[in-house]
Amino acid sequence: MDEGENGENSMSYVWKEDSECNLAWCSPTLGCGKADDGALYKGRRVSSEPSKFPFSIMTSSNALRTIGLQHVARGVGRSTDLVISKASGSYVYTVEGNKYLDLTAGIGVTSTGHCHPKIVKAAQEQVGNLIHGQVNLFIHEPMVKLIEKLKPIMPSKELDTFFFWNSGAEAVEAAIKLARHATGKHNIIVMQGSYHGRTIGTMALTTSKTIYSTGFGPLMPGVYVTPFPYTLHSPTQKALPPGTFRDDLTTEYAIEQLELLLKQQTAPSDTAALIMESVLGEGGYVVPPKEYVQKVREICTKHGILFIADEVQSGFGRTGKYFAIEHTDVVPDIMVMAKGIASGFPISGIVSRKEIMDKQPPGSMGGTYSGNAVACAAAIATLEVMEEENLLLNVQERSEEIFGRLRQELSPLLEKHDIQVDIRGLGLMIGVEFYGNGLSKLHEKLNSKVSEAIVGQCFKNDMLVLTTSVYDTMRFIPPLNISKEDTMIAMDILMKSVKEVIN
Ligand SMILES: Cc1ncc(COP(=O)(O)O)c(C=O)c1O
Repeated sequence: MDEGENGENSMSYVWKEDSECNLAWCSPTLGCGKADDGALYKGRRVSSEPSKFPFSIMTSSNALRTIGLQHVARGVGRSTDLVISKASGSYVYTVEGNKYLDLTAGIGVTSTGHCHPKIVKAAQEQVGNLIHGQVNLFIHEPMVKLIEKLKPIMPSKELDTFFFWNSGAEAVEAAIKLARHATGKHNIIVMQGSYHGRTIGTMALTTSKTIYSTGFGPLMPGVYVTPFPYTLHSPTQKALPPGTFRDDLTTEYAIEQLELLLKQQTAPSDTAALIMESVLGEGGYVVPPKEYVQKVREICTKHGILFIADEVQSGFGRTGKYFAIEHTDVVPDIMVMAKGIASGFPISGIVSRKEIMDKQPPGSMGGTYSGNAVACAAAIATLEVMEEENLLLNVQERSEEIFGRLRQELSPLLEKHDIQVDIRGLGLMIGVEFYGNGLSKLHEKLNSKVSEAIVGQCFKNDMLVLTTSVYDTMRFIPPLNISKEDTMIAMDILMKSVKEVIN
């Protein structure tokens, strides 16, 4: 036991010994590691001993960390236990003053970087004028102005009627409510590997990992799963010579399975909607072939099934276009937006055609904070920054640089372990999956997935990166305005970390 730093009211805590960490990539001298709850830590980690809450003045970083660990619901989980107090551009700063290059952007949220001055100013000004203009009571100015900014960037002019909410999951639920009501049907088709949220409704639509729904059932009924065209893991690739991949076969198979689903499990007359992420996110940063998305659109139109595009993670410039679905020339019936829309302020939304939206009776939609005025002002400022700083171009240029370096440098590093690397994605939504014959051997040596070990080593080297999916995959989602210089620093840290892990 050690004594806290805040006098008699501070909690007791013990240090976890570095030697307890058995991960090969964790150096005991540096004292970094991965705790039982999965969080990466640097230095020595405090235990989860019960604390003597409430505390007096909590200024010590360890005291703050301990409250965070003990008094925030354990179900939240987190990938590091850094206590941060400040962030700017592509960097976050801990209370101890350490600086990390942030390639997570708060999981695709801080699109204009942390605390962009224009977003800060817009929010500050809005706070002085109107904080809350409840949507079931008023039409407020920032929401109307936001709609005016959003309309021209929608994938089609037809998508002209909006409903705003707070989180991505809520917006997905709004889309499902809309589809059920507008069609008078109830079943929903989702893609295998999809992620749509953690609420009671959306966890039934989420199939990326069982962790999100195990033990929380019964799940919402009427959800049917169809394969996503994930070429690397498609059964159609097994007969091909090693190293050969054919997206056309994956597409054919996935379409066949969707058609079978409509014949065997959920009749078109019972099916309200099909929801798909325009780029599979939590499922592994997989880009569906354009032909697949176009065929799905045709099938939906033929059967009167509404096509919902979930652009929560892939939207607002992330892939080099405002919305990832634009890469396929498909227009959805309903589109779901959130995350990057307001650079970190909580706002989400759906858009659809007026004739679909107007079927809902007044009062059936809404919510206390729905389309909050400050969040709307931040969203307008985000869109202005995107135009003024030409962020779509920055996304394309930085993307080319990242893809270039990954392709040139990563594969040769892993070849000696008989591991291949699938580098994929669009714009600044980039996934790297490790696969091949040597994978299990390296997993054994590292006592973790390769992606996890590299993410842990990047953390030691002061850079934040995330893994994704049930496979061995890392994902890169930096801010859309990351500079060329920071992009190069990020790639240098990554390559250094990979070498340190595998050598
Ligand atoms: C594609 C997609 N849909 C929905 C959600 C849920 O959004 P939120 O976490 O804001 O509820 C996410 C979150 O990661 C997402 O990536």
